[in-house]
This record gives sequence, structure tokens and C-alpha cells, in this order.
Amino acid sequence: MRAKLQKSMKKQRQQQLQGILVLDFGAQYAHLICRRIRELGVYSELVPFGVTPEEILQKGANGLILSGGPKSVYEKGAPLPNPKIYDLGIPVLGICYGLQAIVHQKGGEVLRSTKREFGKASVQFSPGSLGSSNRLFKGIPSPTTCWMSHGDAASALPEGFGSIAYSENSPFAAIASGNLYAVQFHPEVSHTEKGMDILSNFLFEICRCKKNWTADTMIEDMIKEINSKLGPNDRVLCALSGGIDSATTTAVLERAIGERLSCVFVDHGLLRKGEKQRIEAVFRPRLGKNLIVLDASSIFLRKLKGVSDPERKRKIIGREFIRVFERIAKKLESERKVEWLAQGTLYTDIVESARGASIHQSKIKSHHNVGGLPRRMGLKLIEPLKDLYKDEVRRVAATLGLPQELVNTHPFPGPGLAVRVVGSLTRKKIEICRESSAIVEEEIDSAGLHDRIWQAFAIVGDDLATGVLGDERSMGHIVTVRIVESRDAMTADWARVPYSILESISNRITNEVAGVTWVTYAISSKPPSTIEPQ
Ligand code: XMP
Repeated sequence: MRAKLQKSMKKQRQQQLQGILVLDFGAQYAHLICRRIRELGVYSELVPFGVTPEEILQKGANGLILSGGPKSVYEKGAPLPNPKIYDLGIPVLGICYGLQAIVHQKGGEVLRSTKREFGKASVQFSPGSLGSSNRLFKGIPSPTTCWMSHGDAASALPEGFGSIAYSENSPFAAIASGNLYAVQFHPEVSHTEKGMDILSNFLFEICRCKKNWTADTMIEDMIKEINSKLGPNDRVLCALSGGIDSATTTAVLERAIGERLSCVFVDHGLLRKGEKQRIEAVFRPRLGKNLIVLDASSIFLRKLKGVSDPERKRKIIGREFIRVFERIAKKLESERKVEWLAQGTLYTDIVESARGASIHQSKIKSHHNVGGLPRRMGLKLIEPLKDLYKDEVRRVAATLGLPQELVNTHPFPGPGLAVRVVGSLTRKKIEICRESSAIVEEEIDSAGLHDRIWQAFAIVGDDLATGVLGDERSMGHIVTVRIVESRDAMTADWARVPYSILESISNRITNEVAGVTWVTYAISSKPPSTIEPQ
């Protein structure tokens, strides 16, 4: 079995994309491992922990990484890899739970440790472990600061394994046997000072990976895949939203199929100030008449009149969007047949859905405006960005010549200002929200804070407060400013921006936006609050 697998492995490797497979045991850091490897210029993919040896061979991996995970290896039903993966002749690196899985499966012992190790630890090479001439630690000083987070630990190593590093609480901070390596700490988190060097050693010294993952190779791969899926005359329709994902999807498709791409930008009347003009300025020169910009704001605002429930607003917007889109697609079809619909789905959207189903049983998130459309319209779906992380999408966007302003744009919800206008949507409130948000964004940009901030905007509801205009007292709206920092929108912290910036935001809003008398600043974090007010 082993010889046969290894022979077939060699053949596969010659044909396939090289890279690292990260087996997902459910750790919150599993994605981070993948991203770190890609940052080092090597392709990496997150796969379910139960991946079979055959699947590994088929994918042509140079190395395997077993991620951390929340379970204990000795618990009933704990996720464990297929033990045959250790016989493939492919180097393996276990991280945290991954170390414990290797120890457990190879005949060692893992126990709940008396002291839970959490935080920074000083890790030293074990005596007799050959120290830095061990390939995993090549060029790493001893001791080195590493980040630990574990309650279980290996208490006895399997036969043939030796400790290559230890810490005060872990005699087995790193272990090795042949081409199987494992570390109890997390090299992927930035608190591990030489974490990237350790991962780099695994990739280049042990797995002999080649650097194959740059914005140019990503673009090349996407174009190859698009051309292999589409027939030579097939046409694609893409919904542009103003965000980075749909803009990059458009730019990649434009590079791949040129004239055969049509894009639709629907103005639902709830866009950021200047959004439509920005999109036209970027894409009209690229797409010419194949860019269709439709002002559907009066239809949307009519349907939304008097509606104050946020979920109903979202539903109405989603439904109207589909209707408008269908109409445009039909019109296009009458001229020339369209076979494909393009969507800016990212790698995290796909993996999180699969993980949700396989590990956490959590609800699958669908946040695309055009969800449900392809089947209804008999279109096939193409998702060029489905293998990329957000930061990679930004690199691709910049390489394809999209302007920096668009490349670094903050996220904006599909239902737009509808979720930032609390209560019923009136033209006046929408205008206040749009104008005030533009001021918040401008002030954040001119203070040089754009890249530190996740989102910055204004909220308006029906609360009124008294103001003084000249000598007259008058009632006006209260605008709430929301500026948050976040890594991924799962959690967020209100931004501690200098008072002087808040002051000029407040002054400008009350002076420049008609109907506003007060400005407040939202100082609640997520959780328990959310980023958007609705
Ligand atoms: P919350 O408000 O849940 O938002 O903390 C998290 C992130 O998601 C965005 N968001 C949406 N995006 N459709 C979208 O496309 C929506 O209905 C929606 N609601 C919230 C929000 O802007 C933030 O980045």
C-alpha cells in the first residue's frame, strides 16, 4: 500500500499545483495558518480533517498541517485524521491539537495538564535535539517566545519520537520523528516571534515547496479556470455593487473574456454619496456599452415607503433587486444569449459554509444580493474569487489596475443606507444619513485613519433634539456617528479617535446637513452591540 501510494504520489506531484493542505480540526486559527502560508508565497487550502489519503494524493500536496482544535483527542468522537496520511511520505506538521492527534494516533499519551498554558512562553531547544540544525528551527534563536493555548498536553511520546524543544510547562513544546513534526505552540499567530520563520522552514526546508502564489499567478489561475469552464462564445452577466469583491470579479472577467462580459449596476436609492459616479468612472472606460447603470431608486423607495422593520426592509430590497436584475437579463437575452452569472464569492464564504455544515453545524450565511437568481433564470454560476481571501482579492484588484480608493474601500452592506436609517425610510432621513456619512468618511480619510478603521458612517432615526439657528430655537434630527475597528466584523471595537476629529465631524454635520441639530458618538462594541444599528 505504502509503496504504491508513494509512487502514485510522485506521479501526481509532477502534474499538479504544489502546495500545503491544512487539515481543519475546528480551531479559530485554521484559516490563519492557510493565510500565513499563502503570505509566504505558497498555495494552501483548508480541507476537512477526514480528508482521505487518495484525496491528498489527487490534490498533489507537498506537505500537510494538522490545525489546532477545541476538543480533546481522548474524548469520544474527537476528530482524528485518517492514520494512513502518516504513511504517504509527505511531511506533516501538527499544531497544538495537531501535535496531540499525532501523539495519540502513534501510540503516545495525551493527558489533561495540571496547568493550562495560555499566553507567551519561552521555548528552548531540547538538549541533544541538534538545536537550530534541526530543519524546523533553522536560524531560530533559543530561547524564542512562542504563544501557547492548551489544556491538554503530551505526557509520553510515541516510539521513535523525540522532543526538539521545551518550555517551562511543556517538556514537549516541539517533537519530531522523520518527516513528522509537531509543535504545541501556535506559529501562525503574531505573538510567536519567529512563527513565520518556523512555517517558512517547514515549507522550504522540509517540504521543498516552490513560491507559486503571487497576485499574477492568482490572476493566471483564475483566467485559466474561466476559460476552461466557458464555451468560446459564452456570455457572462455580473452585478456590480460598488464593493471590492464584485469590482474585482468584473476586472478578472474583463481580462479573461473582454467583450463577452456585461455588468449591471443597480442604484436602489440607498447608496453612498457619489457611489454611482465612482463606479461609472472606473468601469465605463473598461466596459463601454457593456456597463448598464440603472436608476431604480423610485421603485425601491416606493416599495419601502412606511416600512420600519429592518428584516422587512432587507427582504423587500432583496426581492426588488432580483426583479430588476431579471428584467435587465431578459432584455440582454433578447439581444444575445447569456449563459453565466458571476458572483464575488470568497474562499471564506465557501469554507465557512462547509465548516458550518461539517464541524459547527452553524447556519450557512448567504449575503449575496443575487442569491437564488441563477437557478431561477437558468444561468450557470461562475465565482472567480472562490479560492481567495479578502487581502488577496485586494492584491489582485491592485494588480489589475483598479484605483487605490476602490481597492481599500470599507465594506458597505448590500441593503445600503436602509440599515442605517432607523425607522421608516423617508427621503429626508436618507439624505441626512448619506450626507452625514460622507462627512464622517471624509474626516476619517483626511486624518489618515482610513486603513485603521473597519467602517465609519452616520446613523439617523426619528429622535429629535432642540438646536439654535441664529436666534431661533428649532427641532432637528439627532445623528449618531459610528466608527469601528475590526479584523473580520465578527467582533468590533469603537474607535478611540481624537476628540478634535469628532469635533470637526460634529461641526460639519450640524453646519452642512440641513435638519440636524445634535451629533452623538456610538461607544458600544460588538458584542453586545452590532456594527450596523439594524
Ligand atoms: P453587524 O451589523 O451584524 O455587521 O455587526 C457585520 C458586517 O456585515 C455588514 N452587514 C451587511 N452586509 N447585507 C450585507 O451585505 C446586510 O444585510 C448586512 N448587515 C450587516 C456590516 O456592514 C458589517 O460590515
